[in-house]
Formats: sequence, structure tokens, C-alpha cells
Amino acid sequence: MNKKVYLETYGCQMNVHDSEKATYMLSDLGYAQTSEVDEADLVLLNTCMVREKAARKVYTRINEIKRDISKAARGKKLPVFGVMGCVAQAEADRLFERSRDIKMVMGTQAIPRLPNLMEQLDKGFDRVIDVRLSKEAEFLELQADNRQTKHIAYITITEGCNKFCSFCIVPFTRGRERSRPADRIVEEAKSLGKQGYQEIHLLGQNVNSYGLSGRYHGNLVSAEESAGITFARLLARVAEESGVPRIKFTTSYPRDFDDEIVRVMDEHDNLCEWVHLPAQSGNDRVLRAMRRGYTRREYIDKIEAIKRSKKDIAITGDMIVGFPGETDDDFSETMSLVAEVEYDGLYIFKYSPRPRTPAAAYADSITEEVKTERFLMLQDLQDRIQKRRYERYIGRTVEVLVEGMSSRSSSDYTGHTRCNKVVNFPIASDMLGRLAQVKVTEVKSHSLYGVMVKA
Ligand code: SAH
Ligand code: F3S
Repeated sequence: MNKKVYLETYGCQMNVHDSEKATYMLSDLGYAQTSEVDEADLVLLNTCMVREKAARKVYTRINEIKRDISKAARGKKLPVFGVMGCVAQAEADRLFERSRDIKMVMGTQAIPRLPNLMEQLDKGFDRVIDVRLSKEAEFLELQADNRQTKHIAYITITEGCNKFCSFCIVPFTRGRERSRPADRIVEEAKSLGKQGYQEIHLLGQNVNSYGLSGRYHGNLVSAEESAGITFARLLARVAEESGVPRIKFTTSYPRDFDDEIVRVMDEHDNLCEWVHLPAQSGNDRVLRAMRRGYTRREYIDKIEAIKRSKKDIAITGDMIVGFPGETDDDFSETMSLVAEVEYDGLYIFKYSPRPRTPAAAYADSITEEVKTERFLMLQDLQDRIQKRRYERYIGRTVEVLVEGMSSRSSSDYTGHTRCNKVVNFPIASDMLGRLAQVKVTEVKSHSLYGVMVKA
């Protein structure tokens, strides 16, 4: 015992979940977690490439951490620095070339093999790396009591992606898509339910293609699964068998999102009223250049199917502005799509090239100024829509999973609604990890405020 790991996580829920998995593997090797860098024997950065210049940020962050350590504990031996996540996978041994401090590079599929890497370091290897990607890679399965996340538990259902959208690095950093056997997923959900989790998130780069192209891994593959179980069917099983009151899933992909999913959501109370369905653009030519595999019309058809649900489902999305070749007219179609869909939340990204992706070779004709201008226009439109969408909640009572203290006020709790909106409300009794009924009294641009009416 008594070794310590300091871990920083960037990016999506998948990364948060990978960090839990790494922490679990390390605890088996005698590492406890610490939030103090100067106590750490191992510093792990779990990286994300959604934002630009992700690799450069790794070096900057390592230097900052080194400075913090030398301030706190002068003369102390430096910890081992390790990089995991998408930057580790994409940059591989280039990380060693650029930073002498990095001693370990662990690719996105290497977490189960973390003990081998640590063993090699113990044996005296100066630098260790595992960036192997395989179509056959096993899923690392976490037990219910090995989790870091207190109130929401993540469950991987697929890993990797086969879509190869022309701007996206994920297929290169996470490999080919694989699906986990449904029985395993359902078992995991059940044990989390027994453990008392009130909310689970089913995770995948594209959850809707669950079982379609994917290989299954692990034992226990049932006949039904070899015949190919769909996402809608999986969702229904998790809803029926898990005993968890709130179930969410992300990310959805327009081409694979079907009406059957909405039908299953309608049928089960514990499937939450939220769909994250990124469009990326509202213009058909740009969508084609992005290789998204659907048209604006087809996207809107999916949105209409969601809106026809008997539940009041909140829709969120992602948009990219300034994709190579995007004209003012093309962009105006993104604006009109956003106005038409009326998203409850939208992540807007300025396009930037990622290594190895097809779009990186397209002439990047859009200037930074134009990208920023479009970004601000779209953000302004979304802010106005979001205000209206949020104001609908005033006077309504919503169910909130109490996840922690508000960052703004220590006398407020914070949590999410079933439709995934942040709600803050004054503490009335000990509610951490429990579901509260909160009457909404006020809205801000990205959150709701209210008072608890009953537990
Ligand atoms: N399907 C994945 C998408 C991961 S990337 C998921 O699980 O959510 C998240 C978002 O980042 C994408 O939807 C896209 O809007 C944005 N993005 C990805 N690559 C980008 C790039 N090269 N430039 C700008 N934005 C990008
Ligand atoms: Fe990326 Fe497209 Fe897959 S955005 S994760 S390649 S669906």
C-alpha cells in the first residue's frame, strides 16, 4: 500500500468512466487516490481531443504540476507522469519526444493492461507505452462497489466508432466499434440498482448502433445477441430489469436513431426525457462533406419523431461552425435548423482540423474571424431559444437527483432533472444522492432555481 496516484480527467463521460476504471486497476496495485500533487507517486492525465491543441495542453499542464510540486515540497523526487485518453492514443511515442517527464503512455484500450505497464516501470524501464488497438479488445468491467462516481453510474455499452465522420478523430483514437453483450450490461445495471444508484448513463460514441456492426465480447453471449439485439431492445431490457429509477443514454447518432427508441422511451417511466442528437450542420452539402450520412430533412424527421413522443423530451445537440467550404448561405441553414429544432442545450464548436482525418486535407478556407462571428451568432440565437425553453419550467415541479453543493453557494444543493438540466435549490434536509421534488421559481441561462417541495 501507501502509494498514491493523482489523476486529472478531461473531456466526455467516457473519459470520466475510463478514469474510474484506471483508478480501480491501480487500487489493485496498491495505489490510493490523492488530490494533492505533491503527495503523488504517479500523476495521470486523462486527455481529450475535442478541443484544439490538446497535446500542447498536456505539456503545459505537466510543467504547471511540476512547479506546484517544487513549491510544496522542495527537492522531492518527481512523480512518474503518465498520459492516457485520446491524446495518448493519437500522439503515442511523440509524447516521449516532446516531454522528458512523460514515462508512461497508455492508449484508450490499454487500461486492462495497466498492471503490465506499471510492472515494466518497476523493473526499471525508463519509458513504457501501450497503444495497441484491436477489434477484439475486451471490455473492462467494473463492479458496482468499485466506482468513483457517487450518485450517477456510467455503463459502457459500446466503444469505438465506425462512422468516420470526416472531421472526427474518435475512430482513430478509440478504434472500431464493439458492443458489450446485453446480458452483461443488464447484470451491471441490476447490481448498480441494488447498490442504491438512482441514475445510470448508458455510454457509447454512438449508442444507437449498439449491436449493429459491433462484435460482442466476453462470455455469456446469448443466442438472442448473436442474432443481433438492437439498441431499442437493450434499452427496454435495462428499463425493465435494472430497478434503477432514472436511465439516460448518450450519444445518439441521427442515422441510427429510430422511432422504436422513442416508442420504448414512451413505454418506460424510468427512461428519462432527454436525447442528445448532434446535427453538426443544417446544410446538406456540408453534411455530405462531413460524411454524416443524412440530410437536413432526415435529421428533422428524427427530431419530429422525438417531439411526437407522449413525454416532454428535451433535445440537445452539437454543431460545428466554419467547416471547410461553409459559405454564409450554408451557415444560415445551420441557424435556421437551430431555430426550427429549438434545442434545450447546444454545444457549438469552431471547426479545427484533427490529424489523420479526411477533413484535415480539405482546404480550410474559413478564417478564424469568420468562425468566431458564426459561433457568436449561433450562440446568441441558442441563448434566446434556451431562455424560452427554460422559462417553460417556471412553476413546474421537477425531480432532481441531488449530486452535490452548488459551486456558487454553500447553502445550495445542485443536481440534474430527468431532462438533464441543472437545478440549484436551498438545502432543507440531508438529500445527497436522493431524488428531490423541486418547484422551479427562477431560471438562468444554463440552470434552474427552485425550492424543494418534498423528498
Ligand atoms: N459521437 C461522439 C462525438 C465525439 S466528439 C460522442 O460521443 O459525443 C464531440 C463533438 O465534438 C462532436 O459532436 C463535434 O460537434 C465536435 N467535434 C469533433 N471533432 C471536431 C473538430 N475537428 N472540430 C470541431 N469540432 C469537432
Ligand atoms: Fe465521431 Fe462521427 Fe463517430 S462524430 S464518434 S465519427 S459518429
